[in-house]
Amino acid sequence: MISGHSQAHHPDLRVQVAGLHLQNPIMAASGTCAYGEELHPFVDLHQLGAVVMKGLSLHPCPGNPGPRLVETACGMLNSVGLHNIGIEAFVREKLPRLRHYHTQIVVNFFGDTPAAYAAVAERASDAEGIAALEANISCPNVQHGGLLFSSDPRLTFEVVSRVRKVTALPLLVKLSPNVTDITTIARAAEDAGADAVSLINTLLGMAIDLETRTPRLPLGSGGLSGPAIKPVALRMVWQVTQAVHIPVIGIGGISTGEDALEFLVAGAAACQVGTASFVDPRACRTIIEEIRRYLRRHGIATVAELCGTLQVPTSVPALTVHEEA
Ligand SMILES: Cc1cc2nc3c(=O)[nH]c(=O)nc-3n(C[C@H](O)[C@H](O)[C@H](O)COP(=O)(O)O)c2cc1C
Repeated sequence: MISGHSQAHHPDLRVQVAGLHLQNPIMAASGTCAYGEELHPFVDLHQLGAVVMKGLSLHPCPGNPGPRLVETACGMLNSVGLHNIGIEAFVREKLPRLRHYHTQIVVNFFGDTPAAYAAVAERASDAEGIAALEANISCPNVQHGGLLFSSDPRLTFEVVSRVRKVTALPLLVKLSPNVTDITTIARAAEDAGADAVSLINTLLGMAIDLETRTPRLPLGSGGLSGPAIKPVALRMVWQVTQAVHIPVIGIGGISTGEDALEFLVAGAAACQVGTASFVDPRACRTIIEEIRRYLRRHGIATVAELCGTLQVPTSVPALTVHEEA
């Protein structure tokens, strides 16, 4: 692993993920950087590998009533409810300025039927300046009684194949951790033509106000994110990298360079940083610097050289999940 290469003094942070050329492996995660420019006063967007837009739907969506965020131990719960301006307004009002940034723009999107997903993907594919699409399939399918697309491999296959038919852009599919076996969902996405899978989205959670004995979030539960979910995300990324042939993008609780490096070693081709940007809007920049320093210190010339180098003892069978009683 120690290359001793002279390039190691100036490590090459570039990575290629599913046809996306990233100047470094750090992407800002969907829903935590709005439509990119909101982050720019704090983080130089030119420095990021990519910026993933807040999830967009065919029509604007008002989202859930407040409060939408609750802080928890080592993380937070959110119930934003996919509030967004809609793909048309995004293309018209946000995209023209985003094209000038030296980073990749990834459009995260969703719908309540496979046809609605395809319609957003088709509209985004016609617009100039979008480098890739990320389908958020943690959304209820109205045609199947509200079952999440990401909770059933057949629904995953159906929605991803429908989107695949209408776009030539790199297609990332974002998976939910709220399933028994995420590898079967990842395989269904791959079989349907996904170019990469991103994982994980938030874990379902709950918080209670003891004074009123009511849930702290208006809909009862919400999505848990932040450092609390990192071990779960890391385990799922490791499992999925062994189950599919397409690249995996690691997400979940990444707050430091070391966190990101763990995901890369586990097999992720790139990482997304979400909640950490709420704690420190400069988190992405710091993480990129910390990755650079680690590579230099270990004499590793490229990020690609590090990816998937986890040393697993032969006593650990692939895909086995060990639970302590
Ligand atoms: C406030 C908030 C809004 C989010 N909105 C979206 C979204 O629109 N689409 C999506 O795919 N993920 C969304 N996510 C999930 C994040 O992109 C990410 O997968 C998750 O928060 C785990 O990463 P983290 O622990 O680094 O935040 C959202 C997360 C938060 C905290």
